[in-house]
Amino acid sequence: VFDSGLGGLTVVRALREHLPFVEIVYFGDTARVPYGSKSEGTVRRFTREICGFLLDLRPKVIVAACHTVSAVALPAVRRELPVPILGVVRPAAAEVARVAGRKLVAVLGTEATIASRAFEHAIQALNPAIRVVQKPCPLFVPLVEEGRSPDDALIRLAIEEYLAPIKRLGPDAVLLGCTHYPVLRGPLGDYFGPGVELVDCGHAVARELKRQLARRRLTSPANAPGTLHCYVSDCAPRFAALGERFAGLPIRHFIRAQAEGWDRRQASPARLRRPAGQPGVSEIHESPRLRQGA
Ligand code: DGL
Repeated sequence: VFDSGLGGLTVVRALREHLPFVEIVYFGDTARVPYGSKSEGTVRRFTREICGFLLDLRPKVIVAACHTVSAVALPAVRRELPVPILGVVRPAAAEVARVAGRKLVAVLGTEATIASRAFEHAIQALNPAIRVVQKPCPLFVPLVEEGRSPDDALIRLAIEEYLAPIKRLGPDAVLLGCTHYPVLRGPLGDYFGPGVELVDCGHAVARELKRQLARRRLTSPANAPGTLHCYVSDCAPRFAALGERFAGLPIRHFIRAQAEGWDRRQASPARLRRPAGQPGVSEIHESPRLRQGA
């Protein structure tokens, strides 16, 4: 599983709920977050690098938890990979189309996600009768990352500022199209009221992954608890608190690793050496599965 930072741990949280026995390796590109304000070309390059890094750990499947990556990079990168890669767009679109019937859906996300219109197209491909309105909410990510509590006045102000015009339209469902937004489920639910369904991509992705693993006969035997090992490209002291907030469980240890250049180092013995200044990379080659990640 990978994300631009630690927000993707909200998807990991849902994966662990639905698939408690799987071994999860998480890569958070904390040195280069946010992706949501970057160009498509840059997000694609980062995605290729991270997938190159993860492929070395021989995953059965890769999950792009980052909604921005799923929206702007996966259509191009998916066909280059030797293993299946699951993004959040299609599972979330299917879920929201199911709950919204034939009515109005509001999609919230980063600037890049909204500009791509990926969620809008995916929802309307499933049901052209659904009307979709979109709204980028760029301040939500830094507010969540700052660790503000859900009833914080600034969070309520940002919600009002971005979403008043959407609320007036009376949506039937709101798609939380960003890794960080499930943390704001409480205040968003209060704001829209009980008649509006808030759809969180994490659960939709977890259910789809479960289906795909079963179909490909890749399910892990249910004889040992699942594991979670976290790799990050930068390790600031506040990450442990932030990680716990997103994952819903304490994350005591992050392994530092860098993804830059991994897309170009395919099959090169050079990557088995300890590259100067990148201690995390050689750590991973020694024995990734034995490291205590969580
Ligand atoms: N992970 C990103 C997403 O879900 C949010 C943070 C960022 O902008 O990188 O779109």
